[in-house]
Amino acid sequence: NKVVLAYSGGLDTSVIVPWLRENYGCDVVCFTADVGQGVTELEGLEQKAKASGASQLVVKDLKEEFVRDYVFPCLRAGAIYERKYLLGTSMARPVIAKAMVEVAREVGADAVSHGCTGKGNDQVRFELTFFALNPKLNVVAPWREWEIRGREDAIEYAKKHNVPVPVTKKSIYSRDRNLWHLSHEGDILEDPSKEPKKDMYMMSVDPEDAPDQPEYIEIGIVSGLPISLNGKELSPATLLSELNEIGGRHAIGRVDMVENRLVGMKSRGVYETPGGTLLFTAARELESLTLDRQTIQVKDSLALTYAELVYAGRWFDPLRVAMDAFMENITKTTTGSVTLKLYKGCVTVTGRTSPYSLYRQDISSFESSKIYDQADAAGFIRLYGLPTKVRAMLENQD
Ligand code: ARG
Ligand code: SIN
Repeated sequence: NKVVLAYSGGLDTSVIVPWLRENYGCDVVCFTADVGQGVTELEGLEQKAKASGASQLVVKDLKEEFVRDYVFPCLRAGAIYERKYLLGTSMARPVIAKAMVEVAREVGADAVSHGCTGKGNDQVRFELTFFALNPKLNVVAPWREWEIRGREDAIEYAKKHNVPVPVTKKSIYSRDRNLWHLSHEGDILEDPSKEPKKDMYMMSVDPEDAPDQPEYIEIGIVSGLPISLNGKELSPATLLSELNEIGGRHAIGRVDMVENRLVGMKSRGVYETPGGTLLFTAARELESLTLDRQTIQVKDSLALTYAELVYAGRWFDPLRVAMDAFMENITKTTTGSVTLKLYKGCVTVTGRTSPYSLYRQDISSFESSKIYDQADAAGFIRLYGLPTKVRAMLENQD
C-alpha cells in the first residue's frame, strides 16, 4: 500500500516519512503544492524527500488555480472571518487537498497523510476535503498518533532513522505562506497583550518605514473579479503578486487578532495580506456604484456564512457552492475600476467608475432635475413616517 503525504521539507514532514514507513509499512509519495509560498521552500526538495525515505516527490504548480478558483470567489463574496481575517490559510487547504486526492489516484495510493497538529483548523480543512472528494481514502494524521512532542523529539527520531535533519533553521513562529497571505502564530504572539516584534513581518514594512510619498494605483474589475492593474491586464496570480509587492512596501494589510478556532480554543494570529487588502477595498467600493441598498445588505449577510464555511473546511459543501452561484449572479454588473491611494499603512479610495453605475449625477445633484421632483418628497415622508406618527399619537394619548 501507498500513502500520499502533504510535504513541505521542514522537520515535521521529514520525520513523518520514516514514521509512516515504520508504522504503516507503506510506500510514501511526497506531494508539494506550489501555492506561492516562495521559491526557497521548493529548492532541493526532491533529494530531501528521497533522503527521508520517500519513493518519489510530486510537485504541482497550483498558483493560478488557487487564485482563480479559491481566492477570487472569496473576494467576490466579500468573505471575512470574525471581522478581520481574510482567510488566506483557509482557502489554500482545499486546493492542496484536492490535488492530493488526484495524486493518490494517479499513483494508486489508498491513503493520504498530513502534518497538521491535532489542535488546529488545518486538519479539519484537509480531511473534510478528502471526505468530500474521495471518501474511500484512509487518512493518517501522525501528530494525533505519535509520541513525538516537540522539536527535540523529532530530531532524535530523525537521527535514529538515519534521516537528515533539515538544515533550514526553524523559525520560532508557526507560519503559513501563500500568494494571498502570510500567517504568524506562536511564541510571543501567544500573549495577546504583547506587540509583535518588527522583524517578524515578511511581506510588509512597518508604516513608519514606508515611503513619504503616496502611490496611486488603479484596479480594474469585471463581474466582481479583478483583471487589471493600472490598465494592464494580468493573470490572477500575477496580478496578486504585483499587488503584494506594492501593498507591502506601503505597509498595507496587517491584521493582529484573536480568533476562535473550530476546535474550540481561541488563538492569537497576525496576518499579512497586502495585495488582498487592496483587492478587498477595491471590490467592495465598486459595489457601492453597482448594487442597490438591499442587495448589499443581503450579500453582506451571506458573506458571513460564506466565510464561516470556508474557515471551517466546508469548501466543497453544496451550500458554499450554491452561495457562490448567488455571488456570481449578483456581481454580474460589478465591472469598472477603482483608484486607491496608498500611504503609510493606509489605503484610501479616491475614485470609482463603472459602465453599470447606478449613480446618476443628474439625479443626485443639488441642481434641479426633471426626474426627481422635490415636491414628491412631502408625500413620501407622510406615508413613510405614518407608523412613527401613529405610535407617537398612542403614547401621547391624543
Ligand atoms: N489561524 C489561521 C487559520 O486557521 C492560520 C493557520 C495557519 N496554519 C499553519 N499551519 N501555520 O486559517
Ligand atoms: C496546526 O495546528 O497544524 C496549525 C494551526 C491550525 O491549523 O489552526
